[in-house]
Amino acid sequence: MPATPAKHDALVADLIDAVGAPHVLVDDDERAGYEIDWTGRYGGPCTAVVRPGSTNEVAAVLPLCARYGACVVTQGGNTGLVGGSVPRPTAPFTVVLSTQRLDAIGEADPDALQVTVGAGATLAAVRDRVAALDLDIPVDFAARDSATIGGAVATNAGGSRVVRFGTMRHHVAGVRAVLADGSVVGSLAGLPKETAGLHWPSLLAGSEGTLGVITEIRLRLVPTFANTATALVAVDGLSGAARLAGRLRCEVPSIDQLELIEPEAMRLVTGHLGRSMPLAVPPGGSYVLVECADRRDPLDDLTSALADPATAGVIVDALVTTDAAQRRQLIEHRDRLTEAIAADASASGTPVFKLDVAVPLDRLAELVSIARTAAAADGARLIPFGHVAEGNVHLNYLDTSDTERIAATVLTAVADAGGTISAEHGIGIAKARWLPLIRSAGERRASNAVRAALDPGRLLNPGVLDPGVPEA
Ligand code: FAD
Ligand code: LAC
Ligand code: ZN
Repeated sequence: MPATPAKHDALVADLIDAVGAPHVLVDDDERAGYEIDWTGRYGGPCTAVVRPGSTNEVAAVLPLCARYGACVVTQGGNTGLVGGSVPRPTAPFTVVLSTQRLDAIGEADPDALQVTVGAGATLAAVRDRVAALDLDIPVDFAARDSATIGGAVATNAGGSRVVRFGTMRHHVAGVRAVLADGSVVGSLAGLPKETAGLHWPSLLAGSEGTLGVITEIRLRLVPTFANTATALVAVDGLSGAARLAGRLRCEVPSIDQLELIEPEAMRLVTGHLGRSMPLAVPPGGSYVLVECADRRDPLDDLTSALADPATAGVIVDALVTTDAAQRRQLIEHRDRLTEAIAADASASGTPVFKLDVAVPLDRLAELVSIARTAAAADGARLIPFGHVAEGNVHLNYLDTSDTERIAATVLTAVADAGGTISAEHGIGIAKARWLPLIRSAGERRASNAVRAALDPGRLLNPGVLDPGVPEA
């Protein structure tokens, strides 16, 4: 329901009292950027954007919103790809709580390999800050300049280094968060071990803004590995890509990235970058981008693993380099794919339709074939790429006319293969109605009971994660 003008004005006045007038945005042009998502597909109007500057201010804002019955959508860098960071068109009495001002970065502890950061600090800012201590962040992806640590925790983000370090949830040594009633929970002590009941980092990682607002994170760090070697490998197909990934993980301890680029994706990104195709692949072939990083030169390990008879059989061609400029060029073929897709979608005027799925590796080739058939049946273009070691493929459909049919076909096939409808981007609103494909009614009732206990008014990110509570 829209708020009455009196209720709207009263809430805005109280928000101004809580955080100060410069941090409550109500004008159309000031709110506009917060009301639409990165892909241009999702969004809706909000009453105000509020930008608290501390955990205490967040703790003041949430009960105010609850008192007036306003929904709260927490927004970090607004780079999420499943519509969870922007207001719903169906819930106009919504406040966007931006974490932009919660961007403090503490001193890193080089003994504990940890740093405390505000939820609104970007991945790139934290990485740059800890570099002086020869430390690095364990999670990285192309949205690093805008995506926030809080957003990455809330979505349990993945990215290119998962093959080495795991997803974001593995790197949260502590959190501080605010619940809907204003309670502040969690700890930033960063204790590597503690068994004392419920573990807030585990509960909040992947909760997509539905259980509380994460305000600070005690983040685990990893050493900087300054010696790097990069390969772009053309393989005979997706089964070959999986075989190569498995062998390299066994033979090369310094593997840092194993990324998949299908030929349609390579053609699109090379066009976007104004380059020619770096390597040819035969029909049905694939590309794997391999990144190694170590304290010593990883080149010999990499080249001998690529020459190993167990891998050589699937390799069609390879470029291997340690040269910084050449490495950057190779990596850009993968890193700039989402940007290339967005540029294409913007030129054609139809927002991209994205699926982010993972299946057991031995089902990957079959799944991508089903995804291609679904595109052809719709007259759409499919741009597939992903993270090969996790069987995670991003299926980007351009020029779609029937996204429902594509989603039904592909996501049902994913579930039948024992896979997941969200490998790393989250369920958001984009995938909420498909959640029953991978979660039983009992599981959803239990999740919803936790949500109802922490947010009885169901004001935090409504519509995200679950379409509704199934009857017992
Ligand atoms: P937002 O988009 O602002 O929010 C995302 C969700 O988290 C929303 O539901 C929001 O309500 C919630 N949220 C945000 N902050 C908080 C908080 N402090 N407390 C509680 N809830 C919060 N994702 C990957 O996993 N791997 C990739 O490789 C990857 N590559 C990408 C490349 C590009 C070019 C782009 C545009 C996106 C990519 N993403 C990737 C998706 C996106 O960047 C991640 O989901 C990221 O973690 C979102 O962070 P954010 O700060 O932008 O969050
Ligand atoms: C990537 C994002 C889209 O892997 O998840 O580039
Ligand atoms: Zn990804």
